[in-house]
Amino acid sequence: MNYIWSKKSLLEFIEKNINKIVWRKDYIFSDLFAGTGIVWRYFKEKWHKVIANDLQYYSFVLNRNYIWNHSDLYFANLVNEIPELFTGNVNTYKQTVLDYLNNLKWKKWFIYKNYSFWWTKWSEYERLYFSDENAIKCDTIRQKIGEWKDKNLLNEDEYFFLLASLLEAIDKVANTASVYWAYLKKLKKSAEKTLILEPANYNNDLLSHDIYNSDVNKLILETSHDVVYLDPPYNHRQYSGNYHILETIAKYDNPKISGKTGMRDCSEQKSDYSKRWEVKKAFAELIKNIDAKYVFLSYNCEWLLSLDDIKEIMWSRWKYWIFTKEYRRFKADKTENRNHKKDSVTEYLHYVEIR
Ligand SMILES: C[S@@+](CC[C@H](N)C(=O)[O-])C[C@H]1O[C@@H](n2cnc3c(N)ncnc32)[C@H](O)[C@@H]1O
Repeated sequence: MNYIWSKKSLLEFIEKNINKIVWRKDYIFSDLFAGTGIVWRYFKEKWHKVIANDLQYYSFVLNRNYIWNHSDLYFANLVNEIPELFTGNVNTYKQTVLDYLNNLKWKKWFIYKNYSFWWTKWSEYERLYFSDENAIKCDTIRQKIGEWKDKNLLNEDEYFFLLASLLEAIDKVANTASVYWAYLKKLKKSAEKTLILEPANYNNDLLSHDIYNSDVNKLILETSHDVVYLDPPYNHRQYSGNYHILETIAKYDNPKISGKTGMRDCSEQKSDYSKRWEVKKAFAELIKNIDAKYVFLSYNCEWLLSLDDIKEIMWSRWKYWIFTKEYRRFKADKTENRNHKKDSVTEYLHYVEIR
């Protein structure tokens, strides 16, 4: 998934510098602001046990599938509804179920009625987040997954696999400039394409990993770690707003929504790391309470926390240092609309070794 402030292009930089500091090869890697999980997935592939956490539920769904699922799925309770499962084998079961979902008879509901043009043009706010077809397909598939879950026809692994596949697929056809604060006035090329579910594949492995859906400052009071990686938000834009429609599709809880963007009430999920007056206190508490051997932090120089704040706070736990790299800025909007006009920023990887 195309995620704002993703560290996809910084994975080698992060790993190289962590490995300079941590000599042991068998460390446990905790990614406590995991987002789509791109960072922990990289470390998991290198045979580290991983612990992942994020405040958002859509992120939990993705991480739950990619991190926790580690063996084949059989969908045994769906054979009555999908007889093709009788004739396949373990390599085809996932695709057989996705094909079935891709071809269901359409059932309109929440996403169509609130985020597609045809329906919303009759209401107070017109919204063009998805083509009509894709909005209806999303509703159809989401309702079927929910129905199977309610009837106990899916185990948890199967449920999160299907939900993660839907989130990945719908994001690919969203008519946005990446985040869901606004939609584009006309359907862009990728949004005209038909939503097709593809398997959200994960690696089978034998290690057991942990996954949480919690505020990091609460989680840290109850858990111990080894090597911690922190990648908090950099600015005042809450992730609950950035991805509010994915949150709604993941929960499918018929929320009250408001305004031009059709935003759900996100007050429960407002992060202190995106609040100018709270962030320093939250970060100081996190670092003070963390039970770990090493903490690494990605943060660039120009946002809510100053370099001096970070230094002062991390130093309080013992040996502090910093690695840097020039990084191309994420562009979700037109250059002239942004406050920051530079095309590149310096990315910092701070760390503290804890005594
Ligand atoms: C910069 S993004 C992480 C990106 C991720 N490393 C990647 O490369 O895809 C920050 C993440 O922190 C999460 N977050 C914000 N505040 C949080 C909090 N208080 N506790 C846990 N997660 C939080 C957001 O939901 C978001 O997914």
